Amino acid sequence: MTAAQTLDVAAIKQQFPLLRREINGAPLVYLDSANTTQKPQVVIDAMSTFMEQSYAPINRSAYSLAAEATDCFEGARTKVQHFINARRAHEIVFTKNATESLNLVAYAWGRANLQAGDVVVLTHMEHHANIVPWHMLVAEKGIVLRWVPLTADGQLDLSELPSLLDGARVFSFTAMSNVLGTITPVQQLCAAAHAAGALAIVDGCQYVPHNVTDVQAWGADFMAFSSHKLCGPSGVGVLWGREELLDAMPPFLGGGNMIADVRLDGFTTAELPAKFEAGTPPITEVVGLGAAVDFLTGLGMANIRRHEIEVAGYAMQSLTERFGTDIQLHGPCNVEVRGATFSFGFRDIHPHDLSQVLDQRNVCVRAGHHCAKPLMRLLGVNATARASFYLYNDTTDVDTLADALDSASDIFAS
Ligand code: ALA
Repeated sequence: MTAAQTLDVAAIKQQFPLLRREINGAPLVYLDSANTTQKPQVVIDAMSTFMEQSYAPINRSAYSLAAEATDCFEGARTKVQHFINARRAHEIVFTKNATESLNLVAYAWGRANLQAGDVVVLTHMEHHANIVPWHMLVAEKGIVLRWVPLTADGQLDLSELPSLLDGARVFSFTAMSNVLGTITPVQQLCAAAHAAGALAIVDGCQYVPHNVTDVQAWGADFMAFSSHKLCGPSGVGVLWGREELLDAMPPFLGGGNMIADVRLDGFTTAELPAKFEAGTPPITEVVGLGAAVDFLTGLGMANIRRHEIEVAGYAMQSLTERFGTDIQLHGPCNVEVRGATFSFGFRDIHPHDLSQVLDQRNVCVRAGHHCAKPLMRLLGVNATARASFYLYNDTTDVDTLADALDSASDIFAS
């Protein structure tokens, strides 16, 4: 166990070329990391060095350059395995993104195992990637969806969980809401799913970049996340699944790499993980993901979480003190059960207008429905502004956001 360390945010920022950029003579304040994160030099270098020196097809050719490329690619798989504490490297499947990972489970496991009337339980705080694939199974198979509601402060209301899970086949839920910042009690939810005889599928998109992840301690069955939200490149995601489940599932996409044999009358599938990795994968991007995992591991995921608790606590206190009822922060107040992602309404200013004014001060926030339209409806809004902080943000970024909100107040007051 390593000792707790405070993050040196100024030094971290220096490692992100894009964050050193100035626009109109002023530094950039990037507060859209729940959407996608900026990339440190080590990730950029790992990818360009790989392309300059080691790039070749993986798992296909006998020459030594191809073996070297395959080692780099498979080395990244092992890094990801340790990062989330998976039991085996071949339980890590590389996909295009977390959305594809969740679709893979719904498509391959769902189509093989679910029938009309089977129940899948979701929560009201899911984003579209953990809703639409299940809606597709409603349409195609006649499965039934049940929904875990929310409490007034944006946590899961678990009071009726046993009856919602009664007879369910699947419980698929986020570990952290991309809108509310809420961190859900993953271990408890996995246990509840299993007690009801259901599979536990965890959407780790927002959680994995910010916290220590241990899929074995959680007791999960599947978990999905994306590289681009944890300082890695876009174009690669991860599906982790328990070996027994992945082994028993039919493949998702068909083509090269995922087969053991192909004949005129059929095919047999390759072993894990190749069985779910049809075609040429995002080779360089996987190497970049491996470098991102090294980068985060070097900083320490527990240190990152501690830092974000501080930033989240400061943001909540200073924004409420400064703006009172002019700002409506969604999600829990308790920093122990939330990350540093804040969706908010500000006065009666439309979030899109607000984000444009903030942009004039170089403050990048997302405005919109955040790919969570059902949740927007429950909150009674069409859209929110969202400021999401990461390891390269600190309390001075909160102050810059607050100053920019003041200028929006001035503009819209006139
Ligand atoms: N990437 C989406 C977000 O911004 C889901 O939260």
